[in-house]
Amino acid sequence: MIEAVTAESIAKAVDALRVGECVGLPTETVYGLAADGLNPEAVAKIFEIKERPSFDPLIYHLADDTELSSVASDVPEVAQQLVNKFWPGPLTLVLPKQLIVPDVATSGLSTVAIRCPDHDAAQELLHAYGKPLTAPSANKFGRISPTTAQAVQEELGDAVAVILDGGPCRRGIESTIVDCTAETLKLARPGSLALEEIEEVTGPLEVLPHDGPPSAPGMLKSHYAPRTTMYLSRDPYHPGMLAGGNHGYLVLTNTGNPSRDVLELSGMGDLVEAGVRLFGAMRELDARHYQSIIAFPVPEQGIGRAINDRLQKAATGYVVWRDGNWILK
Ligand code: TXA
Ligand code: MG
Repeated sequence: MIEAVTAESIAKAVDALRVGECVGLPTETVYGLAADGLNPEAVAKIFEIKERPSFDPLIYHLADDTELSSVASDVPEVAQQLVNKFWPGPLTLVLPKQLIVPDVATSGLSTVAIRCPDHDAAQELLHAYGKPLTAPSANKFGRISPTTAQAVQEELGDAVAVILDGGPCRRGIESTIVDCTAETLKLARPGSLALEEIEEVTGPLEVLPHDGPPSAPGMLKSHYAPRTTMYLSRDPYHPGMLAGGNHGYLVLTNTGNPSRDVLELSGMGDLVEAGVRLFGAMRELDARHYQSIIAFPVPEQGIGRAINDRLQKAATGYVVWRDGNWILK
């Protein structure tokens, strides 16, 4: 049930966590499905509710960095510098784990992903509970991440005891994940903290290439996906494309004719605003039951890197605009 954030609803959430239940947790990035990170049965419940495969590890949420050494067994100097600069905030660090962290949460890895959310309600709950909470995004596995309490309710229904309503997420895209377990730091997932900002502290990170959508059309959708089939266009948007059939269009800025079928992420072309709106816009287009959704990549800089990553993972393939039609390419 959705509850406004009050002393009572925080107390109710704490009670639920104590008995191994899950709660809907607002953060600045997306809503999480949180459980007691040190209780293996509670952690297992997250996987069950999300229908998440056991090989996909979770992220730990701490009230502040004084708790860091309770879950991480080694914090290199550079990781501490990142913590000092960006916590609380949308940066997750992968570090060697303490034995106390249950294997079910890390999918058997010897490392653990940890962050400190920059959201008042998340902070209140973490302080009140006094133990780390582990939380993936509060969507069914493979689906669009929720950025409002209502979207959590739509995704998970009554499977959670309490959904704390912290309002729409300020960032709208998941945290950036940096793997600090090897000599060279790696960008494990682009997210709402821009790579450029991190590299000011660390120097160049190793950036793994986008995997992109499966190359064969019709293959299994991977992640962040609407129910409607979504494609990425290799051609830039122009209003003439609207003649191409019953499609919804997702663009950064609609400079052509305004149309109900075209959702723009930011009138000013602002990538931060686009990130905030991305998942909500995908949900909105999905609810309109088009034949397909055609999305257009944004500039690959700042948050744009994370937006393109999510679009590519949500898409089943690429299309091009040829002679008045969309064709798979
Ligand atoms: O912003 C966020 O990070 C949100 C909010 C709720 O905090 N959480 C989130 O969790 O995005 P989730 O479960 O949707 O994504 C967790 C991802 C995993 O899919 C995996 O890629 C990475 O974190 N991860 C977790 N543990 C890891 C580890 N030990 N090594 C490498 N990657 C890890
Ligand atoms: Mg997720």
